[in-house]
Amino acid sequence: MKITVIGTGYLGAVHAAGMAELGHDVLGVDADPAKIAALAAGRAPFYEPGLPELLERGVESGRLRFSTSLAEAAAFGDVHFVCVGTPQVPGSDRADLQFVDTVVTELSRHLERPSLIVGKSTVPVGTARRLTGLAAAAARPGLAPDMAWNPEFLREGFAVADTLSPDRLVFGVAGVDAEQTLREVYRLALDRGTPAFVTDLETAELVKVAANSFLATKISFINSMAEVCEAVGADVRLLADAIGQDARIGRRFLDAGVGFGGGCLGKDIRAFRARGVELGVGDALEFLAGVDATNDRRREKVVQLAREHLGGNLAGRRVTVLGASFKPDSDDVRDSPALYVARALWDHGALVTVHDPAALENARLAAPHLGYAADVEAALRAADLVVLLTEWRDYRELDPLLLAPLVSSRVVIDGRGALDADRWNAAGWTVHALGRPVAPAWDVTPIITSAVADVQSSQEEAVA
Ligand code: UGA
Repeated sequence: MKITVIGTGYLGAVHAAGMAELGHDVLGVDADPAKIAALAAGRAPFYEPGLPELLERGVESGRLRFSTSLAEAAAFGDVHFVCVGTPQVPGSDRADLQFVDTVVTELSRHLERPSLIVGKSTVPVGTARRLTGLAAAAARPGLAPDMAWNPEFLREGFAVADTLSPDRLVFGVAGVDAEQTLREVYRLALDRGTPAFVTDLETAELVKVAANSFLATKISFINSMAEVCEAVGADVRLLADAIGQDARIGRRFLDAGVGFGGGCLGKDIRAFRARGVELGVGDALEFLAGVDATNDRRREKVVQLAREHLGGNLAGRRVTVLGASFKPDSDDVRDSPALYVARALWDHGALVTVHDPAALENARLAAPHLGYAADVEAALRAADLVVLLTEWRDYRELDPLLLAPLVSSRVVIDGRGALDADRWNAAGWTVHALGRPVAPAWDVTPIITSAVADVQSSQEEAVA
């Protein structure tokens, strides 16, 4: 099929490459010429495992092209996917719909044949129906496009797999033609047995925000339990393991820590709440304010712990922050808890050095005043405190014994429950994971002393 994907951010770039991989002819469109030039050359403009290979294959096959022109998109495609951003309006909780509105209006103005516009962006419920009117008003007589909503559930870091093998498809449609077209677009996935839910436009829009609200709630639930655990010396990890064993609860998304960030969960729950108020059902979504507040408190908790570990004053103290992206396997620093904490520590006077395996460049752009180090050893040198805030595999695999001599104080705050505390304790580190009792460093002095004594006595025996 001839498909366009408008907006080539994290969602659109992967969707465009994925559609080409599934055999469609795809034109990706974005207003940013630099992004389009990179994509056209087969280069991913951001870090996403597997995307460079997918892009390269698509571009080489000739099935994946890129452009900055909506007129070209209108001339090329039968199905147009709208993947532009819906960021939070500054100073408000609402979603900014200007990009969605502009794309749908402009595209409709240029349409020359019957087409289907499919929204993928996360929008407040009611948007698709409003856009149907906008599109009809902009299009030439008789060429008003059909409108569908097909929310996206991909996770950054797993975006390629989530796009090629989704766990479900949701087709929000206003008629059977749109459903048939979407079935054709996703034929390969449907043939493999992927469940498809055909709904009205409003339900499809709601599925997306309801799913993200549930995920955010689950994370804040376990983080609330972490606060209680901290008050009584209990262990939130063991608690999560035990409740997660119940299949009705499930263990996934019950990892306590510094909380959620990124371009989706936070903004989506805020926009959903704001929309609920507009719809007169604000009370029904009031709990999301608590979800947000719990999330904020976890970030502040790390700052408080850092202060406590450094004797109540951060001024002039060297703090190494491991991680800048909002989660591992991503270079996305939007609303990153790691960067939030790094900034807050700096605000309190700490000398902050940040390390991240992929997000250093984006972090430096977002927070140029912080210190950065390209390798972990350099980042840790002479640190008074280490704070781990993104659970990259590289950090889980660090050897605490080798790192011990680099720092001036062997204390690590584990904001993601990522470290094997026993291993770090055995190497002389104190580990303070959120929601868990402090794991004090083992006293390694007797071990070292007795090892030295052993060596000396065997040398004496040898001499004798
Ligand atoms: C999220 C959803 O998971 C996707 O299904 C959705 O498609 C996407 O938003 C979107 O709306 O586009 P994503 O933002 O990539 O995906 O990241 P998640 O994997 O959901 O993680 C979000 C945040 O929650 C991260 O900061 C992560 O560290 C944190 N998290 C996750 C926890 O603190 N604890 C957990 O147990 C899980």
